[in-house]
Amino acid sequence: MRKAITIDYEEYDDERALPAEDAALLQQARRCVANAYAPYSGFRVGAAVRLANGDTVCGSNQENAAFPSGLCAERVAVFAAGANHPGVPIAALAVAAQSADGQAADYPISPCGACRESLMEYERRYGQPIRVILQGARHKIVVFEGIERLLPFQFEADGIGAEGAEKVKKER
Ligand code: THU
Repeated sequence: MRKAITIDYEEYDDERALPAEDAALLQQARRCVANAYAPYSGFRVGAAVRLANGDTVCGSNQENAAFPSGLCAERVAVFAAGANHPGVPIAALAVAAQSADGQAADYPISPCGACRESLMEYERRYGQPIRVILQGARHKIVVFEGIERLLPFQFEADGIGAEGAEKVKKER
């Protein structure tokens, strides 16, 4: 039997059309780009997290000469949130990027697969969806209400087996 998944998302012509707190988070994501360390790719990414209590946390990509050792902006941001604001749910994440020529990336930069998994785990941990706001310079802004829309058929803690899942629940 063939089945299909439909993904719904919001699209905005420009920032002024966004809800005010989303627009503010995007502006912050653009500011976060300034702290990117991307000497190898030249592609600078900023990610801003808004926590449920209104606090915000900046992330940016941090590269390394041993290439796989670097980390994307999105994971830097959510891990920093987890490390510095334990127990506070993540409400939203905004992402902006700058190409090597210093221009804003044309298309919305979408979190890579590994980042999606990490974001999903925080959703599960706190039991609330993370709103994801993505912006490119020459493209509409797209907003996804929850990681499930970016990552269907998620790998979950239950996949580790009953014992593993129990441990994760306790830790949360
Ligand atoms: N990168 C991010 O930080 N976030 C993304 O969503 C895509 C890619 C970074 C990783 C690497 O430092 C550079 O962009 C080029 O892939």
